[in-house]
Amino acid sequence: MDADSNLQADSSLSCSRCGKPAHLQCPKCLQLRLPRESAAFCTQDCFKASWSSHKSVHLKSKVSGLTASTPDEQISAALNEGWLYCLKKGQAGTPILPHFDWAGSLRPYPISGRRMVPASIERPDWAIDGIPKIEPSSDLQNVVEIKTPEQIERMRETSRIAREVLDAAARAIRPGVTTDEIDEVVHEATIAAGGYPSPLNYHFFPKSCCTSVNEVICHGIPDARRLEDGDIVNVDVTVYYKGVHGDLNETYFVGNVDEASQQLIQCTYECLEKAIAIVKPGVRFREVGEVINRHASMSGFSVVKSICGHGIGELFHCAPNIPHYGRNKAVGVMKAGQTFTIEPMINAGVWRDRSWPDGWTAVTADGKRSAQFEHTLLVTDSGVEVLTSRLPTSPNVFPWLNP
Ligand code: MF3
Ligand code: CO
Ligand code: CO
Repeated sequence: MDADSNLQADSSLSCSRCGKPAHLQCPKCLQLRLPRESAAFCTQDCFKASWSSHKSVHLKSKVSGLTASTPDEQISAALNEGWLYCLKKGQAGTPILPHFDWAGSLRPYPISGRRMVPASIERPDWAIDGIPKIEPSSDLQNVVEIKTPEQIERMRETSRIAREVLDAAARAIRPGVTTDEIDEVVHEATIAAGGYPSPLNYHFFPKSCCTSVNEVICHGIPDARRLEDGDIVNVDVTVYYKGVHGDLNETYFVGNVDEASQQLIQCTYECLEKAIAIVKPGVRFREVGEVINRHASMSGFSVVKSICGHGIGELFHCAPNIPHYGRNKAVGVMKAGQTFTIEPMINAGVWRDRSWPDGWTAVTADGKRSAQFEHTLLVTDSGVEVLTSRLPTSPNVFPWLNP
């Protein structure tokens, strides 16, 4: 039975901010049984943007069960409930079901509450209110920073922690584990090392890492879905420690995976290796995409265009922008002392991506599988240092690395 077939009743609702067709309803308004018309929004963004004026409609009713105290906490709580609401669609008895044309068979599941970070841990500037302040207006969005030896040493330390955190997540992966449990491993390992999990509340992202299953390209939100035998799952970890970020990801097999998915994951791993192999001073950033595109298309796979590698350091995302696809227009050449990520996303089918209504999850347009690997890199005088490289202790999960 199609869980989305009884959605038409609400197709007439329009967003109370911008007037576009609305598929989301303010959870607090639903709880308070307030009129649907004033409670409808097209996207989480419109909901967020209207919050300061919209929340006043709640005050007319008694609000029970809202324990958040500060305005920031109230926004976070409402948004979290909004996701929960959005995710609960399809359950029997849910009165209002937003329509969405899912690309594949994966569906969102409920998201757990906000995980806490000890007050003693240094946080990036979005930790409290979800809004990065330094990052968007920094000069480093336009010029590529040359790191000092002191910054580089901190990047090494942080990237090494991020690697150990990812390895802990990898050890937890098996059929039956939820992606929320993976997130818990990432969160606990990060704070145990004295770090802050950079994704947590970055532009309101609700969890401490990204978990991207099967047709999810990237930015999947950890939730209550249990990994199934035959799934593939990418875990993307970023750690903030000593004022800098270290960012990496890997795609793992869950139990026994079909041959085609094994090929996809191995090819994606090789794409990243081949791209790293050309990194040295004087090489054009646009060459990275040529190398990746050549290897992926040779294997019959396609390259995602909408998400790129990025500069990293005291900022999570900054210049340079590094496309992974061929014939790209990336500007500039690599110089010793630069730090950036390369993180190719390779699809079994079409390159085009779409977003889920949660505003984060990027999926393949055709619902076929996607894999990704990411490293944080330092350009050295002679070539490259992989700051997030595998350790002797890293779990042995990729058969092609065995002699
Ligand atoms: N780690 C991702 C990257 O490689 C970014 C995740 S941002 C989040 O750039 F908010 F989705 F977590
Ligand atoms: Co990255
Ligand atoms: Co990442």
